[in-house]
Amino acid sequence: MHTSLVCASCRKPHAIDRLQNLCTACGLPLLAEYDLASLAGRFTVDAVRRRSERSMWRFLEVLPAADADDVVSLGEGQTPLLPCVARGPFDAFENLYIKDEAFNPTGSFKARGMSAAVTRAKALGAKTVALPSAGNAAGAATYYAAKAGLQCFLFMPEDTPPANITECVVGGARVSLVNGLISDCGKLVRQGVERFGWFDLSTLKEPFRIEGKKTMGYELAFDLADAAGSERLQLPDVVFYPTGGGTGLIGMWKAFDEMQRLGWIGAERPRMVVVQAAGCAPIVRAFEAGAERAEMFPNAHTVASGLRVPGAIGDFLMLKVLRESRGTAVTIGDDELLNGVRELAQYQGVYACPEAGAVWKAAVKLRESGWLDPAERIVLFNTGSGLKYNHLFPPSGLQRLDHRDPACLERIAP
Ligand SMILES: Cc1ncc(COP(=O)(O)O)c(C=O)c1O
Repeated sequence: MHTSLVCASCRKPHAIDRLQNLCTACGLPLLAEYDLASLAGRFTVDAVRRRSERSMWRFLEVLPAADADDVVSLGEGQTPLLPCVARGPFDAFENLYIKDEAFNPTGSFKARGMSAAVTRAKALGAKTVALPSAGNAAGAATYYAAKAGLQCFLFMPEDTPPANITECVVGGARVSLVNGLISDCGKLVRQGVERFGWFDLSTLKEPFRIEGKKTMGYELAFDLADAAGSERLQLPDVVFYPTGGGTGLIGMWKAFDEMQRLGWIGAERPRMVVVQAAGCAPIVRAFEAGAERAEMFPNAHTVASGLRVPGAIGDFLMLKVLRESRGTAVTIGDDELLNGVRELAQYQGVYACPEAGAVWKAAVKLRESGWLDPAERIVLFNTGSGLKYNHLFPPSGLQRLDHRDPACLERIAP
């Protein structure tokens, strides 16, 4: 259980026993801190390995729940780290892995963050939560709110894919379709917070979604040690992350720092790679300009809806991670990232989200430029299931067969 909430920018401390969003002094995100020194003797790598808990809550001591009975869980986390088969374009890599977050409840890594946020919101007495979202976060919020018995208001742009809308309606959320962008949806949430006392679950405005997502960093260290048959935790050389609001990127970096302070790892760190769509790349642009904050990206557009974030409140934290990790930032166009989805499906058997298609293509690009060494241990994040993006791949050219025609198979036989 955390001991305090501290502003990620001005370091102002905030009480932990009340529902709150941003820093009251500077309006930037709050981060949870833990008494890691006192945990170090009993919260050990071996203790975690011995646990039978099959969710991210096996890291309970560094998550926002006073005890296991408070946890709102649907079995999130503990996703597989899949070694890639060296076939086709994947042959250019010797140690490539996919952390497959599609295995999460509601089919994406958003489950981790929502499990942590809803757990804490419920414990602090929230009755109604609200969120602007165009996709996976809305689905996760719906189902964790349902499990916790909270009412959930969602504001989604009217061009949100049908799969996301249906999922939320079936799960009992109060869904409103808004004739505007995600930022217009955010304004409606803020008005609802003021008028009706809803609790705002927006990414990085809510302090605990990042705590759930950081467990991806903890898991990577255990997964890689298991893959190498090693007692000691291990980190990859490079991590590729599809970046919108950046919660997972910032969260994993926080996790590495916590693990070092727990004495679980040393000062080694992976190089972190931010991957964005060519049509919405504020962090890539800011990184290339050497800036500390990103400017709003004009006319943001991409089919990878998780990457359609023209301005992120955690921009300064993402840029810091890139600099500290000696990482880099890459853009991928929409046609290319959709091809990436096809390649992950056809060579690795993983039906990935378009955001992960971008991540894979970014690895190819950095391999070709020489930034990556083929022998390096590289982790690509597949942050969600391709099934929610079926609308991007309308089947075409399918063979129609008449089963009564005895020669019908001749038409498809090689
Ligand atoms: C599938 C998918 N990948 C990546 C992202 C971006 O995640 P983050 O906000 O942690 O940068 C999202 C966010 O909506 C998403 O749904």
